[in-house]
Parts: sequence; structure tokens; C-alpha cells
Amino acid sequence: MAQWTSAVGAPQLARLLASQRAATAAEAGHRVPAYRSLADGVRLLVLEGRLPVATRLPAERELASALRVSRTTVAAAFEALRNDGFLASRRGSGSWTAVPAGKPLPTRGLEPLPPESAGSVIDLACASFLAPEPHLTDAFQGAVGDLAPYTHTHGNYPAGLPALREALAQRYTARGVPTMPEQIMVTTGAMGAVAALARLLTPRGERVAVEHPSYANVLHLLRDAGARLVPVPMAAELAGWDLPAWQQAFRDAAPRMAYVIADYHNPTGALATDDQRRDLVAAARAAGTVLVADESMTDLTLDEDAGLPRPVAAFDPGGSAVITVGSVSKAIWAGLRIGWVRAAPEVIRSLVAARVYADLGSPVLEQLAVARLMTGDGWDAAVAVRRARARENRDALVTALRDRLPDWEFTVPKGGLTLWTRTGGLSGSRIADAGERIGVRVPAGTRFGVDGAFEGYVRLLFTVADPLVDEAVARLAKAADMVRTGAVPEGDVPRTYVA
Ligand SMILES: Cc1ncc(COP(=O)(O)O)c(C=O)c1O
Repeated sequence: MAQWTSAVGAPQLARLLASQRAATAAEAGHRVPAYRSLADGVRLLVLEGRLPVATRLPAERELASALRVSRTTVAAAFEALRNDGFLASRRGSGSWTAVPAGKPLPTRGLEPLPPESAGSVIDLACASFLAPEPHLTDAFQGAVGDLAPYTHTHGNYPAGLPALREALAQRYTARGVPTMPEQIMVTTGAMGAVAALARLLTPRGERVAVEHPSYANVLHLLRDAGARLVPVPMAAELAGWDLPAWQQAFRDAAPRMAYVIADYHNPTGALATDDQRRDLVAAARAAGTVLVADESMTDLTLDEDAGLPRPVAAFDPGGSAVITVGSVSKAIWAGLRIGWVRAAPEVIRSLVAARVYADLGSPVLEQLAVARLMTGDGWDAAVAVRRARARENRDALVTALRDRLPDWEFTVPKGGLTLWTRTGGLSGSRIADAGERIGVRVPAGTRFGVDGAFEGYVRLLFTVADPLVDEAVARLAKAADMVRTGAVPEGDVPRTYVA
């Protein structure tokens, strides 16, 4: 059986290589033979996640003709790639991309540090931060007053409290997506929502298309659920989705579900445009793929001129192609553990039926607090506090990076909580290891990739305030030095932290 899961056509590979060449032309200091430059181009496309691992490459003759080079050049490039571990071939099955052995993928999620460890370790890995006070406490105090009618019931609401379902439906309707409460199920955070959808939509072995890179915990969750991930590269420079790549993935892999983060994508911070949303929904509908849009970051617009496009669901008036997932974790506070699914009523009924053998429901008091925030002035006031804090933290992080690590490259996003950072040619995994030893925690880029891509990246967050963020970046600069000078031993990182 062939070892590849998707294929790239000769014209598409030529296009990818051309864009790569434009980006790297400035870096090329000396002339290299044509076959080497082609091999390097393909290797970079694999490492950057733009050419997923296990993608079948076109036949040598076709590629030679698309690139206007000799077939010998292509054959020599393929041979070089095979020698470097970036290509595998079998007679009769063609050649497909690979990563060299010996770069194990992280097999565990990155657990949040216990809050009491703050002080010795600076955590730039967990995308949560302080609650917006006094708004959160005010909401809880109000919620305690609202509790009495519920204490006379058994308290289990697998679809969510009617008051919160109603408030959520109204919010969607106000955003231009008419919604009834029957289209909402309240969940335990967005993670609870994605987990419920994965159980419903992806029986073991189903294909699920994901942006590449994508949110690490959802990649873990989907892999654990037995899904076969089909990575689809993001467009370069925060330009959103690469529609031809999506169309090809729908055609080649016919995934059952696709998981996307249109607003301030985690980890890149990209914001998909109106046109991209319209085209992706149309392509998913035509392919029979259910598009799950995660709106966890939607409220975190940090620059006023960001111009948030319409929700993905607004491009699906029929209501059967798009399922939306949301959460209060980023907008308000992760400690609430409240999220939701918006879908067609029959999908919600199936999810609710399955919930009685999962977690049964979400806590009543937290739902009442969120309903209060959403129906009063509290929501806007609390979100404004969170935005202002994330904006200040982002700006302080960017200043510290430019000052202390000038060769690290990134594009500053207009919203969200994440900065996707190239680590100046060093291994992001080794920087993450070194950081753990000296008290700064960052996830390596490979956590956000499928099969070893993004080795040259780390993800940083807008969750730490100045002056701590400056100390965090000083430690990262030290970690980078340790990697550069070979001072980070291979092997397990000790789980003890030093200040
Ligand atoms: C895109 C995305 N989805 C989901 C989550 C997790 O959300 P929750 O805390 O609501 O489970 C996060 C947290 O970082 C996220 O960035």
C-alpha cells in the first residue's frame, strides 16, 4: 500500500517553490547547483508545514516540465532529499515527503503549570490570564441571587441552562447569524465542545482536515479520537487561508470534518478574510465536509482597525455546512470553563443525547454568571479589560523581542493571544527544553504541526505583563544562547524549576 495520504500536483508544487524562492532569495548569499536549490526548496516547504509530511510528489518528468528544468536536475534533487531523510520512495508508488527519523514528536499535551509555581517559572505556554475584575466577581454575586429557582430542580441541564442558551442565541442573532436557543448546547469550554463534536462526527479512522499549524490541544484531542489528520498549510504572512490548498485537500482526502480558527488563529494570529470564509464554506459544502469554526479568540480584537469579518456561519444560510464552537475562556476567564456549540437543531439533539454518557452538563452557577454578563453591561466592560491587558502585553513582548532577540522573526497580529515566532534558525524544541531548565516555559513549534513540521518556531503569548515579560524574553535569549553553544544536553528535561 502507498505510504502517502495526499498529493501535490506539479503546477501547485511549482507555485509553492516560487513563493518560497521569493521569500528566501534575499538570504541566498552564494550560488548553489540547481538540484540543491530544488532540494532545499522542498525541504523548507516540509519544515515550514507548507508541504505536509506524507504528500506524494509529482513524477520527475512532470515536475521537470512545470519547473522548466531537466529531468536529471529533478532526479538529483529527489536523490538528495532521500539521502537527507525528507523523501521516501517505492517503485510503483512514487515518492512522498517525510521528516528525518530521530525527531520525536511531543506525545503529551503541555499541562498548565500549577498557579503556585508562578514566581519561579514564567509561563508563556498557557493561553489564560487574570480575570477581569471587578466584573467577574460582580457577575458571580448576581448569579448567587439568581440561583434559588434552580435549587428546586435536579440541576442537570445537558443542553445548558435555558437562560444561557437564550443569551447565546441572541448574541449570534445580533452578529448577523439568526439563531434559536435550540441551536445551542453549552459545554465545558471550547475543548468540551470540540471533544463532543469529534465523538459525534469522526468515528475512528475518519479524516479531519486542520489548518497547519493549528491549536495543539485540539490536534492531540483529534489524534486521540483516532482521526487521521490532513494538514492544510496557512497562507504566508498572516494572509489567512490558502484556498487552492483547501480545495485540493477536500478533493484528495474527502475529510469528514475540517477544524478551523478564522479569527486570530492559534498559533499564527491570522484573520481569514470575508472572501476566504465565503469560499471555504462553499468548498466544504460541495465536498460534504462539516466545517467546525472555533471562535474562542473572536472577542480579542486588539487593534481597532482589524476589521473583523462576518462570522463563518454567516456564509452558511442553510445551516448544515458550518458548526460553530465558542468559549468565554479568552474573552472573560478560563476558570469559568464555559463554552458552547452552535449547530442545526438536529445536530444539537444528537450532541445532547450523547452528553448523558459524557459529562452530563455544565455547572449551574457558572452558567448563570455568564448569562448575567451577556445580558447586562458586564460583558463589554469585562472584554474591554481583557483586550487592554492583552494589547499592553503584546506590545511589551514585541518590544522585548526586538531588543533582545533581533533575529527572531514574526508578524504582529491584530488580535488574539499568540505570536508565532521563527527562532533565528535554531531548533524551537531545543529552545523550549533549555527554557524549561532556566525558568521560562514556551511550547515548541512542532506541537502545533503534524509530523514534525515547524521545528524552527516557538509560540509566545500575550498573557504576561511588563516587567515580567522582559525577564521572560531575557531568559529566552539565554535559552537561545545555550542552544547555540551546545549547552543543552539531549534527553529528558528535569521537572524542577529555578528562578
Ligand atoms: C483556538 C482555541 N480553542 C480552544 C481553546 C481552549 O478553550 P477552552 O478553555 O474554552 O476549553 C483555546 C485555548 O487556548 C484556543 O486557543
